[in-house]
Amino acid sequence: MKKPVKVAITGAAGQIAYSLIFRVASGSMLGPDQPVILQLLDIPDSLEKLKGTVMEIEDCAFPLVSGVVATADPMEAFDGTDYGLLVGARPRGPGMERKDLLEANAKIFSVQGKALSEKASRDVKVLVVGNPANTNALITASNAKKLDPKQITAMVRLDHNRAISQLAAKTGTSGNDIDKVIIWGNHSATQYPDISHTTIAGKAAKSLVSQEWVEKDFIPTVQQRGAAIIKARGLSSAASAASAAVDHMRDWALGTNGKWVSMGIPSDGSYGIAPGVVYGYPVTCANGKYEIVQGLSVDEFSRARMSVTETELREERAAIEELLK
Ligand code: NAD
Ligand code: LMR
Repeated sequence: MKKPVKVAITGAAGQIAYSLIFRVASGSMLGPDQPVILQLLDIPDSLEKLKGTVMEIEDCAFPLVSGVVATADPMEAFDGTDYGLLVGARPRGPGMERKDLLEANAKIFSVQGKALSEKASRDVKVLVVGNPANTNALITASNAKKLDPKQITAMVRLDHNRAISQLAAKTGTSGNDIDKVIIWGNHSATQYPDISHTTIAGKAAKSLVSQEWVEKDFIPTVQQRGAAIIKARGLSSAASAASAAVDHMRDWALGTNGKWVSMGIPSDGSYGIAPGVVYGYPVTCANGKYEIVQGLSVDEFSRARMSVTETELREERAAIEELLK
């Protein structure tokens, strides 16, 4: 057995965490031979509820769980953290856009960025799930001055998985056969799910579906999927969000074997996206590092959509500029 690693999960009494904690504890994220110490953070008002979740973790008798910390203090929750899953934040309700949460949630991430900077492992890998995830990741990174901004990522993996599943259903194929899907930009209604380079069992996806379907059905369905789930459930997605978080962190830590995945990462200027925003890019992961897939052709249709989502991220950034200092 390996030495235990510390996994911090914030919003630990919430609905995503109720799924996520148990997936992490069972080994889905870091593998069946990797023991974990769970560091669970929530606000003081939610600690009683969190106690119930901790009792349930105990009752699972997970062989991989070496310890559990439940706290309302970010400095305690992030002490020595190797993997940080920042879920804790308010979710949106019907009729809201994710950026409407900016004011309510932004401060959470400046506090937690500072705590990560002081207390986490110097190699910590952080995934921001709480919305608006890209801009919250930017706030976290700006406040985590002792960490490399590349260590702080945002979740667009749920959109990536949604895109694969829509494409598989349309073409009557399995998601396993689909590679090279890209989610460019923001985890919001402006995101650009791009299948220009996608292959399905080695064939170009674009040769199997019409451009009309891509424009009128596929892109809007993926962009609006979160809202459709809120309408149907009366609550935002939870189990699928937890599953995407597990996928994101697993792939980053253990590698993608050449497969492309989408991650929200600090722009380095690739594909003409100016630095200063956390943007969804196609990446491959190996040896605990991600790398942007370079050299892809970008046609006019794609460029226009990549710019719209970049502009929205710049607007979100402008709205919280004072938290970036
Ligand atoms: P929830 O309301 O069920 O749980 C949120 C939890 O966070 C609560 O227990 C709350 O007490 C806690 N919390 C609030 N402030 C905190 C703080 N400062 N520190 C620690 N914990 C804090 O919400 P949920 O459904 O679990 O969703 C959580 C967030 O994830 C929301 O912002 C939601 O919009 C977002 N989300 C993102 C994606 C994505 O793909 N990026 C997908 C689904 C949901
Ligand atoms: C989602 O995409 O399901 C989440 O971001 C929740 C939401 O607000 O849509």
